[in-house]
Amino acid sequence: MSPETLVIEVDPLNPQREVISRAAEIIRAGGLVAFPTETVYGLGADALNSRAVKKIFVAKGRPLDNPIIVHIAESGQLKVLADSVSAEAVALAERFWPGPLTLVLKKSARVPDTVTAGQHTVAVRMPGSNVALALIRASGVPIAAPSANLSQRPSGTTGRHVFQDLAGRIDLVLDAGPVEIGVESTVLDISTQPPTILRPGAVTVEDLESILGKVALGGHAELLKRSPGTRHRHYSPKAKVTLVAGKSQPEVARLLEQRAAAGRKVGVMTLRPDLYRGKQGVVVAAMSQDLREYARQMFASLRELDEAGVDEIIVEEVEEKGIGVAIMDRLRRAASGK
Ligand code: TXA
Ligand code: MG
Repeated sequence: MSPETLVIEVDPLNPQREVISRAAEIIRAGGLVAFPTETVYGLGADALNSRAVKKIFVAKGRPLDNPIIVHIAESGQLKVLADSVSAEAVALAERFWPGPLTLVLKKSARVPDTVTAGQHTVAVRMPGSNVALALIRASGVPIAAPSANLSQRPSGTTGRHVFQDLAGRIDLVLDAGPVEIGVESTVLDISTQPPTILRPGAVTVEDLESILGKVALGGHAELLKRSPGTRHRHYSPKAKVTLVAGKSQPEVARLLEQRAAAGRKVGVMTLRPDLYRGKQGVVVAAMSQDLREYARQMFASLRELDEAGVDEIIVEEVEEKGIGVAIMDRLRRAASGK
């Protein structure tokens, strides 16, 4: 499709105007541009151009029944995409945009079925990254963008990860170095009552309840029905992922010894790297106690351990508080292969 993938470095805070215009031209011409958002890198196409959006599915190997988030740069663009904009939607947008919150609303006729995978709702967010906002403005259209990784793989959090997965499949990577947050946006369905979190992220239940009152957390069956993306394999490194309850260093040590005895190379993502460094056949990824920092490191660590050629990755669970809820959601999916 795109034999040559160009990589251009861009300043994350003050994106160079000529770089942005070049990227916007590609979007307007129906091409694919990967760009940084504050959560993870996105793989963008003109959201109103069905043929361009189809290329995203091909480039990622994404199942056609998994709808894509549309990114906007002005709240006014919401009116073009949504059938109607409730007072609730306005309040959420005012409080959390630009930022890591995606709203699912009834869609307007303008949004192609390719974007929504045939659903009657559309997912919209205004990303909090200057590069993303500049690109959307310069393109003059909303930009449909899933995470910029091959389907099933951990999301890309640096330009290098994106290039590793998508070189030869897309036109351009705007490389602004590592992202700020590291896990994908919170997806909140406000098309039904009560509002339901379909995917946890950096905007937490508590944050949302401060505006909305009660918010539901999507249960498993409901997620399958309402957020098709959740039924597919996700966030998977090549190695098998095994979760171990937090603060159980003896259990981690026991597993590492057992695997080593079986001649397997094992990675460990741990808050206590000092305990495991220097052990035969063990590759250590030191994770931060600070869960915001942990989130920034998580996908990169899964990729690095893969690159080190480990057969299995043992991960200590983290406390499910604040962004820890989103971290555990991704780790569980990585471990379950779902
Ligand atoms: O932070 C993010 O959200 C990143 C950046 C690039 O913005 N994007 C991202 O996109 O994570 P993706 O495609 O990897 O995940 C989008 C999720 C999927 O679980 C998908 O099923 C869900 O949002 N989704 C999209 N449209 C939906 C809709 N109309 N109804 C329910 N779920 C939807
Ligand atoms: Mg994704």
